[in-house]
Amino acid sequence: MALTIMMILALPVAAKSFVMELEPRQMVLRVGERQVLRCSARDCSESATLTWASLEDKPLSGITKNPSATESLLIFDPVSTVHDNLVVCKVSCGNVRKQMHATVKVYSFPREPVISGNAHMLVGEVNTLTCEVSAVYPPEYLEIEWLQGERVLHMDEGKADISTVSSRYKYMPTSDDNGKAITCRARHSFEGVPEDEKTKETTVSLNVMYAPRDIRISETAVVKMGVSFTLTCSAEGNPRPVVVWRKAGPAGRPVTLGENETLAVRNVTVSHAGTYECETMNTLGKLTATVNVTVQAPPTNTSITVSPANELKEGDNVTISCYTDSVTAGRLVLRRVSEGQETDLHTSSDPTTSVSLPSVRLSDSGLYECEALNQHGSQTASTQVTVAVHPLKVELYPGDGVIAVERGASFVLSCRATDCPAPAFFWKSPLDASIGSRSQTQGPLSQLFLSPVGLKDERAYTCEVKCGSVLKSKRTEIKVFSFPSDPVIENSGAHVEGQMSALRCSVCDVFPAGRLLVEWLDDYGVLLSEEGSFSSGLQNLTSTLSFTPGAGHQGRLITCRATLQMDGVPGNMSVRSALTTVALQYAPRNTSITVSSASELKEGDNVTISCYTDSVPAGRLVLRRVSEGQETDLRASSDSTTSVSLPSVRLSDSGLYECEALNQHGSQTASTQVIVKAPPRNTTVQLFPSSQVQEGQNITICCRTVSFPPSAVILRKLDNGTALYSPDGTFLLLNLTPHDTGLYQVNVTNDLGYETEVFTISVMERQSSPPPSWNDVIVPVVGAAAMAAVATTAGLATHYLIQARKRGSYELAKSTPHAI
Ligand SMILES: *[C@@H]1O[C@H](CO)[C@@H](O)[C@H](O)[C@H]1NC(C)=O
Ligand SMILES: *[C@@H]1O[C@H](CO)[C@@H](O)[C@H](O)[C@H]1NC(C)=O
Ligand SMILES: *[C@@H]1O[C@H](CO)[C@@H](O)[C@H](O)[C@H]1NC(C)=O
Ligand SMILES: *[C@@H]1O[C@H](CO)[C@@H](O)[C@H](O)[C@H]1NC(C)=O
Ligand SMILES: *[C@@H]1O[C@H](CO)[C@@H](O)[C@H](O)[C@H]1NC(C)=O
Ligand SMILES: *[C@@H]1O[C@H](CO)[C@@H](O)[C@H](O)[C@H]1NC(C)=O
Ligand SMILES: *[C@@H]1O[C@H](CO)[C@@H](O)[C@H](O)[C@H]1NC(C)=O
Ligand SMILES: *[C@@H]1O[C@H](CO)[C@@H](O)[C@H](O)[C@H]1NC(C)=O
Ligand SMILES: *[C@@H]1O[C@H](CO)[C@@H](O)[C@H](O)[C@H]1NC(C)=O
Ligand SMILES: *[C@@H]1O[C@H](CO)[C@@H](O)[C@H](O)[C@H]1NC(C)=O
Ligand SMILES: *[C@@H]1O[C@H](CO)[C@@H](O)[C@H](O)[C@H]1NC(C)=O
Ligand SMILES: *[C@@H]1O[C@H](CO)[C@@H](O)[C@H](O)[C@H]1NC(C)=O
Repeated sequence: MALTIMMILALPVAAKSFVMELEPRQMVLRVGERQVLRCSARDCSESATLTWASLEDKPLSGITKNPSATESLLIFDPVSTVHDNLVVCKVSCGNVRKQMHATVKVYSFPREPVISGNAHMLVGEVNTLTCEVSAVYPPEYLEIEWLQGERVLHMDEGKADISTVSSRYKYMPTSDDNGKAITCRARHSFEGVPEDEKTKETTVSLNVMYAPRDIRISETAVVKMGVSFTLTCSAEGNPRPVVVWRKAGPAGRPVTLGENETLAVRNVTVSHAGTYECETMNTLGKLTATVNVTVQAPPTNTSITVSPANELKEGDNVTISCYTDSVTAGRLVLRRVSEGQETDLHTSSDPTTSVSLPSVRLSDSGLYECEALNQHGSQTASTQVTVAVHPLKVELYPGDGVIAVERGASFVLSCRATDCPAPAFFWKSPLDASIGSRSQTQGPLSQLFLSPVGLKDERAYTCEVKCGSVLKSKRTEIKVFSFPSDPVIENSGAHVEGQMSALRCSVCDVFPAGRLLVEWLDDYGVLLSEEGSFSSGLQNLTSTLSFTPGAGHQGRLITCRATLQMDGVPGNMSVRSALTTVALQYAPRNTSITVSSASELKEGDNVTISCYTDSVPAGRLVLRRVSEGQETDLRASSDSTTSVSLPSVRLSDSGLYECEALNQHGSQTASTQVIVKAPPRNTTVQLFPSSQVQEGQNITICCRTVSFPPSAVILRKLDNGTALYSPDGTFLLLNLTPHDTGLYQVNVTNDLGYETEVFTISVMERQSSPPPSWNDVIVPVVGAAAMAAVATTAGLATHYLIQARKRGSYELAKSTPHAI
């Protein structure tokens, strides 16, 4: 207001007279309605200007319209809270100005309060109720009150700038509060709000949820058979409880009978007696109550049962049970009726009773009765009990009849009883009362252990089985056999062509020996067949095959086959055989000796001399050298071949070599001549009596060499070409003269080469007689004369010969014959 006053004071005093109007000046507007402010200048003769402005610190809102030059409208359509303002209208007419202001107040309170939180309240807990008033302006003028009847429970006020005003009220209801009303009242205290719009209120009822309580159920009922009755049951609760009726069924498990507060039962039977349970239930809990119903009736559903239910066999454990549906206490009698006589077996006050007949007998067969009695009547049930014998079956394994069993084997005879729950076994055997002690019984199986099986176990065995009053048996006969090993063939001596020889076939520990067949076979058929003879014990059997082998028997296969001709012996155990090959023996033959290299041997060659023979059995093979009547064994062997190597053979290795093969059937010898050749070597020349002689004397020249074949010798005087030839190397120079003095050469030659020696002869002059000529004194040694000369020189050269032999060389003087 102070501002307005100031403005009025500022108006020019000297204004021309015109009238300004502003309508209305004060207003309280409801949000949403339409309002118009009209500003005008009356009596303005000059041109007028009209303007609107806001005096508060916010923009002017609303629409301005100038219907004429002297009139302006400010329109609020619709009114909203932004229009809450102090507006001014300024008018100028010519140079005269005027202005006026108007106060615009706005309120809003369009809706009823809204209550929430009342729909699902929980008993005994703090529940929050909320009341909300929306679109309120100015909110700080709104008050909220919670009321029950006229009692104010709680109050709240709105806050500035929050257009939705809400109030929370915490409430802990009891079940009695369910359905009660609660009111939320809102009052707008803003000045200018019309009285009939100032207050708005809402009333709701409380919905309080609670578990069932105060259950009510019918009284105990006692009803007669055939009538009808009803049971009722109810309980309070929110939500309303559901009712379920139940009753223990035949198996004790509850059976649902209905889901209604009323349970109607028609045509009552004994099964309707018992305890009925009513369960009331809602989402918050449950509550149950029971009522007993008693039915007055005679016993019903009386029955008698036999367990096991199938056909009864002697020895079964039998239970006879009696049952009734007597709802009224009474008596139950179980009895046997036999030949018009009744025998009570059991009496009970329970609705069920039974008797046990352990290991029932044939005589327990008969009629059995169950009688149920109470004050309303009685009922009887009966059943026929029939006890039968067991269809016992007895079986023997591995079989009845005759069984062949190998001596020493572990044999088990099994006796099995079928269709009998508790069989009793008895083993019997003639002459052996204690046979049962070798058996073991377990349940339906009894086993007799014959281990190891001996000859004495050969006899009959009976397995007898007793089952209740039934007795059955099975019998088997055991035959023992023994044939443990293959036959063995032995040679009695060697097989020599043309000589009688024999083969022996032995079979060990046979039983029964009388059943053994021994056969000799070769590729062409049966040679001999023999049978054993009866014996009460084990037997060793031998069969002998005699024959005279010919060359065709070598390598022939001969079989000895033994067959135990007894039933029940497995195929591979009843026939056994042995095989032998005839091996003929003979003295050494095809004996030979060979020299490895070519026919012509040279000294230094490497030579192998081999010896071979063929003999059975292999005997001894001897390789030897025969020299000057003396035998030297080089090698002996027990093989069919042997050899010696002579590395770098020498002249002295020449000679006769022999190979002798021997075994017990004879011997054979082969021989060969070995010749080693060598060129002349170690040639020596000797002069007799000396190389220096007197004129007229004789000189013998002895020329020796080592070589083979023997060498020829040529003597030559070196200053005269004349040559003399000697096949034995001896020259005789007779009646020498000084002319014969000079150098001489001997040239020793054979096929393989030559060697020369040079020596000097000097002849001293004898003054008396003229020297003889070369021809007179040199006499070549030829033919018979030469033989004499050789003998001479040989005698002279004894010393050299001995030396030569010691060194193993060939002696020149001995070589014969020689040709020219
Ligand atoms: C309960 O039985 C009454 C009477 O028979 C019947 O009217 C009512 O509908 C039944 N209620 C329900 C929930 O079945
Ligand atoms: C009850 O018994 C009567 C007569 O015996 C019969 O007609 C009726 O159907 C029976 N009702 C029921 C529910 O079994
Ligand atoms: C109902 O019967 C049961 C057993 O049959 C008994 O334990 C219970 O006490 C009886 N209840 C009433 C109320 O007779
Ligand atoms: C009695 O016997 C009837 C007919 O066999 C049967 O329906 C009923 O369930 C029986 N009652 C009981 C309690 O077993
Ligand atoms: C009978 O019962 C006895 C003792 O409980 C038991 O040893 C026997 O094996 C039973 N007999 C049969 C056939 O079940
Ligand atoms: C049979 O020969 C074996 C050995 O070859 C010997 O141990 C055994 O005692 C012999 N049996 C008879 C009955 O002669
Ligand atoms: C005979 O044959 C059976 C089965 O083929 C085998 O188990 C057994 O060892 C054989 N016996 C002999 C002595 O070869
Ligand atoms: C003989 O054998 C030796 C050694 O094996 C060898 O050195 C030599 O050359 C051989 N001689 C001949 C003539 O083969
Ligand atoms: C042959 O001569 C050699 C040397 O030339 C010698 O070693 C050897 O002993 C001689 N042999 C003989 C038999 O005189
Ligand atoms: C030499 O030999 C000849 C013939 O044999 C003989 O007559 C002569 O007496 C010999 N001379 C000497 C000196 O011995
Ligand atoms: C060599 O011998 C020949 C004949 O035998 C002879 O004629 C000649 O005189 C001899 N010469 C010498 C020098 O003796
Ligand atoms: C020795 O005699 C042989 C054969 O007659 C000959 O080839 C060789 O040349 C002779 N040697 C000498 C030295 O005269």
